Amino acid sequence: MSENRSSFTGKIGFVLAAAGSAVGLGNIWRFPYLAAKYGGGIFLLVYVILAVTLGFALMCAEIAIGRKTGKSAIGAFSSLNKKYGFIGWLAAVVPVIILPYYSVIGGWVTKYFAVFISGGASASAAEGYFESFIGSTFEPLGWFLLFLGLTALVVLFGVEKGIEKVSKVMMPLLVVLTLFIAIYVMCMPGALSGVAYYLTPDFSKFSATTVLAAMGQLFYSMSIAMGIMITYGSYMKKDIRLESSVHQIEIFDTGIAFLAGLMIVPAVFSFSGGDEAALGKGPGLMFVTLPKVFESMPGGTIIGAVFFLLVFFAALTSSISLMETIVSLLQDKLGLSRRKACLVVFAGSLLLGLPSSLGFGVLSNITVAGLTFLDMFDFISNSVLMPIVALLTCIFVGYVLKPKALIDEMEIGGKFSSKRLFTVVIKYIAPICIVLILISSVLDGLGIVKI
Ligand code: PHE
Repeated sequence: MSENRSSFTGKIGFVLAAAGSAVGLGNIWRFPYLAAKYGGGIFLLVYVILAVTLGFALMCAEIAIGRKTGKSAIGAFSSLNKKYGFIGWLAAVVPVIILPYYSVIGGWVTKYFAVFISGGASASAAEGYFESFIGSTFEPLGWFLLFLGLTALVVLFGVEKGIEKVSKVMMPLLVVLTLFIAIYVMCMPGALSGVAYYLTPDFSKFSATTVLAAMGQLFYSMSIAMGIMITYGSYMKKDIRLESSVHQIEIFDTGIAFLAGLMIVPAVFSFSGGDEAALGKGPGLMFVTLPKVFESMPGGTIIGAVFFLLVFFAALTSSISLMETIVSLLQDKLGLSRRKACLVVFAGSLLLGLPSSLGFGVLSNITVAGLTFLDMFDFISNSVLMPIVALLTCIFVGYVLKPKALIDEMEIGGKFSSKRLFTVVIKYIAPICIVLILISSVLDGLGIVKI
């Protein structure tokens, strides 16, 4: 481990920063929509089972790889085994693809927050408002620049003074704000039927697709298979108990996703008179339907502002983790200073984000396989690269490195009670499940617009 590598001060700092990465846009709009679509309570159940098995094992593996080697993805894999360094390279590509378009969406969220606090809530509920906003040229670019700049600023301050500090403030606040809105929303007329719809298991909707959808969501939501958890693990002190940290991150991530459903599904039900179609999918729900829902609520301007603030926190802590992962790679590999690395990543992401930002306006005529730029980047990273990286990681850990090497690392800070589960999942269960996800997401992904 390099001598002056910075680190999180303690367990809480690490857990909140990792949870900050995990809790993001995926928890807030995607999870509620999927849960509602795939049978409510039954989806929740499947998701939780997968989280404590598959998600648990993969997250342990990544954090342990990071802590064991003290390096970010590329260096980590090649220092464990020279021949397998390519997995690190592949993992490193993912945040480079995601950060630019994630920041474009982060910019949209920032704009909506600004609109709500400046009293423009009802304007944003008007028909066509969102489309005309993202279709314009300079405004979305400006918000994108602001969001990316804020991300770079936090990363510039480093692991302890930037990332840990921001996560320690934003993550607890995020929980409080989410609880506040969920309770407020559940008190609205007609909301309880939404709660029932969200939570009641509908066994007739259970199928293999339910499991696949839950699995796809799990990887994305836990920020695995893109080197993030390896990087964060490399900043973790050896005396911290890894297993319980992973449990806490999972509880955080799943808890916020669950609560997001409790705020969004009942709100939309109360507004639409129980029409589940109003839940829609993708940006439409967050940027088109919800402003209308807020407009119809008593105190909706305030609730809307609070909502977009919490989405902003969630998105910012996630984009910070993406940028930190790339910055730490540049520091490790090219020996750049943090400052230079931040500048390079900021400028590079700005360039790469341009087509995503302009893809709904001036560049909307250009599509790849029917997808806009933003959807195409999302598809390549989430549906193709991430499952491949996850699969290679399992094969590497299970059969080349051998699980024992990571189990020893896990046990440095305390007992690892689920080592048998860890081994079985990494060697057998996860690879099979990931191959299934890969096939299914590539098959249907090309026809479906996701974000
Ligand atoms: N885990 C984040 C979410 O649930 C998404 C994310 C993906 C964040 C990749 C960072 C990197 O929204």
